[in-house]
Amino acid sequence: MSKSILLIPAAGVGERMKIGYPKQYFPLLDSTSMLEVTVNRLQDMYLFDQIAVVVSRNDSYIKQCHFHGDVCIFPCGGETRAESVLNGLVALNPDDNDWVFVHDAARPCLDRDSVERLKEAIESEAIDGAILAMPVTDTIKWVSSSGLIEKTIDRSHCYRAQTPQVFRAAALRAALSQAKGTVTDEASAMETQNAKIRIVEGSAFNIKVTYPDDIEIVRNYLLNSVQRKDY
Ligand code: CTP
Ligand code: MG
Repeated sequence: MSKSILLIPAAGVGERMKIGYPKQYFPLLDSTSMLEVTVNRLQDMYLFDQIAVVVSRNDSYIKQCHFHGDVCIFPCGGETRAESVLNGLVALNPDDNDWVFVHDAARPCLDRDSVERLKEAIESEAIDGAILAMPVTDTIKWVSSSGLIEKTIDRSHCYRAQTPQVFRAAALRAALSQAKGTVTDEASAMETQNAKIRIVEGSAFNIKVTYPDDIEIVRNYLLNSVQRKDY
């Protein structure tokens, strides 16, 4: 039986957040950090056999984190997100056929239904993997480097990729090794291997905290979510 493993890259510096320390340690709910919220929500779902977090080699914050259960911490972050995930996979050393769900530490609002839809996709169809994504609702312009519109893209084919993104351990490891850190998500690495990847509906609230303004949206959602008990 292949296991479901959750791998959370949390080794970024959070440059765009501009708070002077990595955004995953921002106190999101009282003193509970973004990383603790992300991990604990997922731990409370009991949908994974193992949870692992990749932090940077010189991380001095992780030891102050309190998680609801067992979490493997790997201080092997790389220069890029793809390198962090690859290093985490090597450290984790899962069985080749285990399913690895990669989820950004910076997405603390993931809901149970989305994870269950992902699991159902990989269990019900012969595919190499699946990712959460949302259809694009704005009109999409292809713009030249001088800022002039060149054309409009048919948005019916456009989706915004979220996480988790789930693939078999061995295939993901091979694809990331070849991609050499240049890709911004796991699916991009797997696409170069012609993998069959299913798009699964995510949630509008599963945003990646990137800029300071994102904090308020995420906080409001999480405070309401505790009342709704939807995790
Ligand atoms: N990440 C990582 N290792 C890196 C870069 C990013 O593990 N070298 C992680 C981040 O910690 C985050 C996720 O990948 O959980 C998504 O990355 P992003 O939102 O871009 O975070 P940062 O790279 O930290 O932010 P920025 O790009 O603004 O510096
Ligand atoms: Mg980044």
